[in-house]
Amino acid sequence: MKILGIETSCDETGVAVYDSKKNIILTEQIYTQASKHAEYGGVVPELASRDHIPKLLPLISMGFKEANLSSEDIDGIAYTSGPGLRGPLLTGAALARALSLGWNKPCVGINHMEAHLLVNLLEDPAPSFPFLTLLISGGHCLLIKATDVGKYEILGQTRDDAVGEAFDKVAKLIGLSYPGGPEIEKMAKEGNPFEYDLPRPMINRDHLDFSFSGLKTAVYYLVKEQKSINREFIANISASFQDAVTETLVKKCSKALVNNDLKQLVVGGGVAANQFIRDTFKRELIGVDLFFPKLERCTDNGAMVAVAGSYRIQQSNLESSIKIRPRWDLSEI
Ligand code: KG4
Ligand code: ZN
Repeated sequence: MKILGIETSCDETGVAVYDSKKNIILTEQIYTQASKHAEYGGVVPELASRDHIPKLLPLISMGFKEANLSSEDIDGIAYTSGPGLRGPLLTGAALARALSLGWNKPCVGINHMEAHLLVNLLEDPAPSFPFLTLLISGGHCLLIKATDVGKYEILGQTRDDAVGEAFDKVAKLIGLSYPGGPEIEKMAKEGNPFEYDLPRPMINRDHLDFSFSGLKTAVYYLVKEQKSINREFIANISASFQDAVTETLVKKCSKALVNNDLKQLVVGGGVAANQFIRDTFKRELIGVDLFFPKLERCTDNGAMVAVAGSYRIQQSNLESSIKIRPRWDLSEI
């Protein structure tokens, strides 16, 4: 089965074709709008929707050309129907539905967070159910026990800011550009993670929820106290912040693995692209089988939607209307 996946939940236009028989991606194309939003310090939803529209069809044509495919080869179309920004979601949903009608192929709306989770099934070796999943993106921070495709139990989540959101807000406070995650990671390489003793929110609590807003506020007060924000300060704050976030994530994952008697941890979402987090997890979580997607498949992409779509289409979860769900909890699948 060959599935076309379309991702437009935020500021990346991603398209890909997944071959479920071979478990490979035949083509994937991505266009990122990040530089357009950088001057505003975050994503402007209206700008994002307008920018997806002229990019979608050319990206699909480019992908088809690259992989020598035509609409005849496609068995189904999957698009992100939520969670995400309403306008951007509608652009992908409307195109997917139009292609489905025009090509007479089935169409399915995908939960973006489930797509971040299932993209790990592309890896070789792939995780086998049941496993623990940590989803860390710009909008979410979730700990999930996945027992099968579509069977997810939320064990913990953020009570305020998502991890990526905290990276982006802290980056803005210290004058780095959007998206803040990669910028902080870069600056942290020059900094001392022990320079500032930042809080590790909720780290010793019994529950598996997270909170990152206090950490961001701690950085805010440090910035306010500074007479000049120089490179050394930015590097040290970046390293200390990244270290505090990473230690919190490691501790919560470790607790969740033990509590649920799980030995595999699957990490997904944009923040999973952070090499310091990847290396620390490998070092600290001894005896745990760790799965991270390829770097380019951590941030939003079409491949993850195509993979999730193939499972959904095989389960015949089809539809005949344009459906978006800007708020869509993984536990409601
Ligand atoms: O999954 P994603 O592309 O979009 C959402 O679903 O939100 O995640 C985007 C988030 C942004 O907050 C971005 O700053 C963060 O992922 N991010 C990173 C890194 N690359 C992207 N955070 C930390 N380190 C990185 N290398
Ligand atoms: Zn995402």
